[in-house]
Amino acid sequence: MKRIKIFDTTLRDGEQSPGCSMNLSEKIEMAKQLDKLGVDIIEAGFAIASPMDHKSVQAIASAVTNCTVASLARCTKGDIDAAWDAVKEANHPRIHVFLATSNIHMEYKLKMTREEVLQRITDMVGYARSKCADIEFSAEDASRSEWDFLAQCYSNAVAAGATTLNVPDTVGYSTPQEMADLITYLRANVTGIENVDISVHCHDDLGMAVANSLACIKAGATQVECTVNGIGERAGNASLEEIVMALHTRRDFYDAETNINTRQIYRSSKLLSNITGVPIPPSKAVVGANAFAHESGIHQHGVIANAQTYEIMNSTDVGIPQNTMVLGKHSGKHALREKLASMGYEISDQEMEKVFARFKILADKKKNITTADLEALVLHRHNANYETCQLVSHVVNAGDGVPNTSCVKLKRAGEELEEVAIGSGPLDASFKAINRMLGLDIKLDSFSLNAVTDGEDAIGEAVVKIEAPNGRRYTGTGLSTDIIESSIRAYVNGINKMMETTA
Ligand code: KIV
Ligand code: ZN
Repeated sequence: MKRIKIFDTTLRDGEQSPGCSMNLSEKIEMAKQLDKLGVDIIEAGFAIASPMDHKSVQAIASAVTNCTVASLARCTKGDIDAAWDAVKEANHPRIHVFLATSNIHMEYKLKMTREEVLQRITDMVGYARSKCADIEFSAEDASRSEWDFLAQCYSNAVAAGATTLNVPDTVGYSTPQEMADLITYLRANVTGIENVDISVHCHDDLGMAVANSLACIKAGATQVECTVNGIGERAGNASLEEIVMALHTRRDFYDAETNINTRQIYRSSKLLSNITGVPIPPSKAVVGANAFAHESGIHQHGVIANAQTYEIMNSTDVGIPQNTMVLGKHSGKHALREKLASMGYEISDQEMEKVFARFKILADKKKNITTADLEALVLHRHNANYETCQLVSHVVNAGDGVPNTSCVKLKRAGEELEEVAIGSGPLDASFKAINRMLGLDIKLDSFSLNAVTDGEDAIGEAVVKIEAPNGRRYTGTGLSTDIIESSIRAYVNGINKMMETTA
């Protein structure tokens, strides 16, 4: 079987997409989960982009142990120096340099001739290689480049020391057959290609990113670039979970395997969604809430008789927990820890204290605690790290034909603050009260509420996106069986994140 390397770019190409930005601790948490998932390479960011990007690439390089950590760099010395400085402490560092090779990019964006592009590749791949043994070269917009010129670019990159050649379908324009033909052509026409990895990086503008990536694997690619939940520029990148499960489920066809621990897929997907506040669409392949649900009677009957009638994958292979009733108000810390461990969550003693405290509050309100409830508690445990302001209490008076008022009490640095406000609804009134008491001018960008489980005592998960006066956006999340409380918690969580970055 061929071994396919998984190059995850959730923290670089994924993080570039609207609404998906993450702060430093969120990136580190995601990177550790990707390491656990078993990806081969994490593209941690674009170090030159900002001091914050540099810092987070550096922090990820020190935080992960198994996988390679890459930073993106344009073909300039400044970018390459920044990338190397950020990844050099990693156990396995990589510099990923890129330069566009399509006529349209060279003429309008780079304003460079073919000769200049070829020379720049030689010089800058060589420069990067003088610092780091693991160099990836990407020809941006490769799929719209002229094939003979592209082959010369890649040949130069190999001669200058590149160890991986990446073939991006930057604008998601190609079809599976075209991508496969391109890989076949490059394998026959790039000097030295047999000694390096061939990678593909497909965008999903026409919904073909996963199909294109798989076609390239069939044609000889040995690395795929992808993101968790398919997040990324515009319509996104190829989705990691779909590629991995396609290779896993159709081993007979692809004759290829990855290092991914498929049982960590669902957890990775949930964590990302929880951090970014971007929900997983219900019918998303592999990780969507409906991916393993059978609604029609005929299907249900078939599945009961033999699961394989309508199921090509097992939900447990992806790590989806069975949503059973597991604990109640009399369960102790030990039982909770054991249950979380069986669900694959290892959490520190300090975090356990916080999760247990929230568990007890929940168990007082809800008779049966399910795996989905526990998962929500664990995924939200990091909210407790943002404690500049804490919600103490709230009282709302809401209805039709009466003024909607809210009285919110918060604690900040040991001091209790209280404010009352009138709004167009209970949430508007609560958010106004908080803004007024903290003297902040914050705009609510978006708000959503989802039930974590079914039933009248379901936990509601609120996600708010707020905009600070400087235009920066923050995502806050909150959990409670009371939807007003979860919304206020989410708002306060967003404000705490904002205060942490501006402190
Ligand atoms: O889409 C693209 O071309 C990229 C490159 C930088 C690899 O993200
Ligand atoms: Zn890309």
